[in-house]
Amino acid sequence: MRIAIGSDHAGYEQKRSLSPYLSSLGHEVVDEGTHSDERCDYPDLAEAVARDVASGAADRGVLICGTGLGMAIAADKITGIRAATVTTVDFARLARQHNDLNVICLSGRFVAPSVNQEIVETFLDTRFEGGRHALRVAKVMRLDADPARPAEPCGPGEGPILPIEAHCTIDVSTPPGPR
Ligand code: RB5
Repeated sequence: MRIAIGSDHAGYEQKRSLSPYLSSLGHEVVDEGTHSDERCDYPDLAEAVARDVASGAADRGVLICGTGLGMAIAADKITGIRAATVTTVDFARLARQHNDLNVICLSGRFVAPSVNQEIVETFLDTRFEGGRHALRVAKVMRLDADPARPAEPCGPGEGPILPIEAHCTIDVSTPPGPR
């Protein structure tokens, strides 16, 4: 897979180890910077990576800043991008299966490099499930096409509503309340 990667200064150290790791797995890595730990602005790197993915120059994007939050907010502004901050392997899996995430945003300051490696591997290896999620993702992407369009009444989507246990690897035996 061709992967565009970028970080600001707060994600630089983790990008330095993640890039060669992804290459060692056989991926082609396009490093959009930053290339030092000098302070820089995360939206610039988010834009570069998001545009690579949106144009098809890259299949997926990986962004790292201090929290992963600013990167996700910025990257998601680019048409065609579905970006989110991911801090657990479960969320990486579900973000691919349900949301067809194409840019993953990582925390360089609050998540260990070994965990981020596992998160990115899961992001790259997990397929979008389609089915009932395809209609929902299409509705999300319609917001890109026409952000001013009047909202429609909430629809139920298609297919069965699965129990929460079907999605979780943690113990969910205590009901979490209304869902
Ligand atoms: C930089 O200090 C920090 O604000 C940035 O890396 C990121 O966490 C923003 O969301």
